[in-house]
Amino acid sequence: MAGLHIIDHPLVQHKISLLRDKNTGTKEFRELVSEIAMFICYEATRDLPLKEIELETPIAVAKTKIISGRKLAFVPILRAGLGMVEGVTALVPAAKIGHIGLFRDPESKEPVLYYSKMPDDIRERDVIVVDPMLATGHSAIAAIDEIKRLGVKSVKFMCIISSPEGVEAIQKAHPDVEIYAGVMDEGLNDDKYIVPGVGDAGDRIFGTK
Ligand code: URA
Repeated sequence: MAGLHIIDHPLVQHKISLLRDKNTGTKEFRELVSEIAMFICYEATRDLPLKEIELETPIAVAKTKIISGRKLAFVPILRAGLGMVEGVTALVPAAKIGHIGLFRDPESKEPVLYYSKMPDDIRERDVIVVDPMLATGHSAIAAIDEIKRLGVKSVKFMCIISSPEGVEAIQKAHPDVEIYAGVMDEGLNDDKYIVPGVGDAGDRIFGTK
């Protein structure tokens, strides 16, 4: 079973508190999501393989390390996941970006894939799926299903606020997927919002409410 990594760095915790405040406006909310995404990405990429190279500094020849191995792709789940893209690409500018859109079928309540656009070489990349809120886990699982269906072998999931229900659901459906989160909240209310959470992350990022 893959692990859950809670990034309990003081800067992350402080910024999550600012996110939670209902008086935090769109501009600040968007900036915070991006900054927190960058910190969580820093941890989610901690195990990237390195190789040793030799180069010349102005002083001497140095044996030094650079990132090697498979390239990365980030896949935001529309639409709130888009808010994390700027932060993660600030850390990994060479990463490619795929997009996944899902809606909830009103009858079955199951997520239905309506959009999937991936880099052509996605199967050669390691993928990190990003969505600020891990609530029921249904969207995350459907996104990971789609990415694996395309042949990707290594998938991680990154969010800012997780719920116990969502973590359990991903771990059951995709036991190989490591989860990186800023915090784990109490759980879900009847409307499947995370409590205490931040409300609707998409609306708060894009100012649609
Ligand atoms: N999506 C959100 O934006 N907020 C929640 O609390 C749950 C899912």
